[in-house]
Amino acid sequence: MAHYSRLAYWDERYKKEKEPFEWYQNYQAIQMYCQEQLHPNNKILNVGAGNSTLSEQMYEDGFRNITNIDISTVVVEQMIERTQAMPGMTWQIMDCRYMEFEDESFDAVIDKGCLDTLLTGEASEDNANKFCSHVARILKPGGVYMCVSVGIPSERMAILGNQDFSWAVNIETLPKPASSEAVVDYDPVGKPTSCHYLYVCKTGGDDNEG
Ligand SMILES: C[S@@+](CC[C@H](N)C(=O)[O-])C[C@H]1O[C@@H](n2cnc3c(N)ncnc32)[C@H](O)[C@@H]1O
Repeated sequence: MAHYSRLAYWDERYKKEKEPFEWYQNYQAIQMYCQEQLHPNNKILNVGAGNSTLSEQMYEDGFRNITNIDISTVVVEQMIERTQAMPGMTWQIMDCRYMEFEDESFDAVIDKGCLDTLLTGEASEDNANKFCSHVARILKPGGVYMCVSVGIPSERMAILGNQDFSWAVNIETLPKPASSEAVVDYDPVGKPTSCHYLYVCKTGGDDNEG
């Protein structure tokens, strides 16, 4: 399963498969939580965004300031093309373990499958910690990190529960889609689960009102 952590795997995959591909869940599954946690004016970062329709659907739902990053140049070039009619939607090639954004520069970070991907490779815990430290650094006070994952709470909280991140974590369960052409029910860490999880990590401080 370690191939998910390799850039070459993602570049090859996106060269071959150009149609939108949705890991775990689609936007509808988390829409209620996004509407609850986020304000339309929020500056949002989608990490490891891939070619999912999540950012486009959030945009259509009124969230117009969305930065997307992915480590794959191939997918970022495709997505710049695909979303060119969406002002406020930007794409950058960036490794989430070494994010170059300024401190306290985002209201929200959305992650669907990116932390999970880091956890499949070598030095997985170290990589996950690097990533989460950056997320905590770039979030504004009152900001939120929303992570959709297959990882069960006892495993994911070993990472997300780190006191250094100064966030409170709420865990929501998301029923696995029964069958859908758009949502592929696949577990990159190789451990079958009966549901997916949404980890809502809320930093202390001012309310997030944009
Ligand atoms: C499981 S896919 C999820 C894609 C998309 N978020 C979705 O929900 O369908 C993981 C994505 O993370 C990207 N990725 C892997 N390692 C990364 C890293 N170190 N930094 C940024 N993106 C990374 C991959 O290129 C891939 O697009």
